[in-house]
Amino acid sequence: MNRLIVFIILILLFLSFTAYVYTLGTEGPNVKMSDESIRGKLLFQKYNCTACHQIYGLGGYLGPDLTTEISQPGKGEAYAAALLKNGSVRMPNFHLSETEIKELVEFLKYVDATAITYKNKGTSPIMNQ
Ligand code: HEC
Repeated sequence: MNRLIVFIILILLFLSFTAYVYTLGTEGPNVKMSDESIRGKLLFQKYNCTACHQIYGLGGYLGPDLTTEISQPGKGEAYAAALLKNGSVRMPNFHLSETEIKELVEFLKYVDATAITYKNKGTSPIMNQ
């Protein structure tokens, strides 16, 4: 009888701890994607930006990681828009329209706003380089 009680207590502890850990682990920044940033994401896929750029650490290595492009000192929206408008020696000019550039920048803003742990220096090997 005692064993049964201990067993039930352990099961209940296990279940409540599991519920706690799972709900804790799924908490994230509550950032909604605007229609503009959704279109920007589709453009990001259409032009295969990820071939050269990483987002959240995934993607190509020819260009810089764009996860925190918007909040990095010395960079930001205007900088990103200028590069997208003109390209550079190493980055192709995609001849994007003003609307497309705005949408891509909105997508980068969304990514930046969700990159909470990414910005937390000391926990990300990428940001410590
Ligand atoms: C062929 C590879 C390539 C592709 C494809 C590419 N880029 Fe780039 N991108 C680069 C390189 C290389 C740089 C660095 C340019 C420099 O400093 O001259 C860059 C720079 C940038 C920057 C400025 C980053 C910084 O921190 O200096 C932004 C923003 C950017 N790219 C966005 C995009 C977007 C959005 C797309 C898709 C529409 C894209 N890139 C597609 C290669 C690429």
